[in-house]
Amino acid sequence: MGYERSMRATQGLLRKVLHVLAIAASVAGVSEAWKAPVFDPCANFACLNGGICTAPADVPFCLCPDGFGGNRCEMRPAPVFDPCVNFACQNGGICTAPADAPFCLCPDGFGGNRCQRRTAAVFDPCANFACLNGGNCTAPADVPFCLCPDGFGGNRCQMPPVFDPCANFACLNGGNCTAPADAPFCLCPDGFGGNRCEMRPAPVFDPCANFACLNGGICTAPADVPFCLCPDGFGGNRCQRRTAPVFDPCANFACLNGGNCTAPADVPFCLCPDGFGGNRCQKRAGTHP
Ligand SMILES: *[C@@H]1O[C@H](CO)[C@@H](O)[C@H](O)[C@H]1NC(C)=O
Ligand SMILES: *[C@@H]1O[C@H](CO)[C@@H](O)[C@H](O)[C@H]1NC(C)=O
Ligand SMILES: *[C@@H]1O[C@H](CO)[C@@H](O)[C@H](O)[C@H]1NC(C)=O
Repeated sequence: MGYERSMRATQGLLRKVLHVLAIAASVAGVSEAWKAPVFDPCANFACLNGGICTAPADVPFCLCPDGFGGNRCEMRPAPVFDPCVNFACQNGGICTAPADAPFCLCPDGFGGNRCQRRTAAVFDPCANFACLNGGNCTAPADVPFCLCPDGFGGNRCQMPPVFDPCANFACLNGGNCTAPADAPFCLCPDGFGGNRCEMRPAPVFDPCANFACLNGGICTAPADVPFCLCPDGFGGNRCQRRTAPVFDPCANFACLNGGNCTAPADVPFCLCPDGFGGNRCQKRAGTHP
């Protein structure tokens, strides 16, 4: 600004000096004498755009008006390039051009390269879906529904809690509460019992579980004390031992005709049916062989 003002002043002064000199010359009648060609460095030194040539040291140069430059005032500074100057954004959009390519930053609800277009408002399926009684609308798949507080129901949580006898009746171990007559009880999985399915039956105590009998012996424990019933010829508490075969005096003492061998004193004899006799009942009574 200061430069500009002093430049204008200089130009004005210069014009006045030239004017005064012209007047003085004509008044003094020396105009003839001045007709001798004087060397004028500005004679062929045209300044453009209103510039004024001056040559205080015989070297001409142009005093240029504001906004012009170059040695003949032929240059204008290039305007600072502003990509947003002619790029109007509408609807409150703001032009920005970080890479010299202008574009509009649009406010919510507007789009298009000049924010000239209304975009659809973001679709909110819950917008008009009120949930009652403290329920919260949710719409993970764009279909709104209400998350209701405990006990409330209905698609808007409009239904008050119904009396649920099972509400505070927890069944343990996978049991399910049921209350067909408003009195809750637990249906317990197999192996559980008690009114909350909290009980397991004690495992049945089997005294024979780890009491192996050998040689075909069979464990038994009628009074919870296990012992082995051993087959003939075996003994020991696990039937592990071979015993001597029991002496049977009747073993080879066959009785005929339905007689039965007996040997109360280890001496075998036959009890014969009526009508038979002999030591093997081989004789018909009253006959002689
Ligand atoms: C509803 O949302 C509020 C706030 O997030 C929360 O406190 C409340 O527990 C929610 N209710 C249900 C039923 O989810
Ligand atoms: C409890 O209900 C569940 C689901 O219905 C079922 O799978 C399960 O077998 C039920 N348990 C009993 C003990 O009834
Ligand atoms: C032999 O024994 C059988 C069976 O115990 C019995 O039915 C029968 O009467 C007996 N015979 C004699 C002669 O004792």
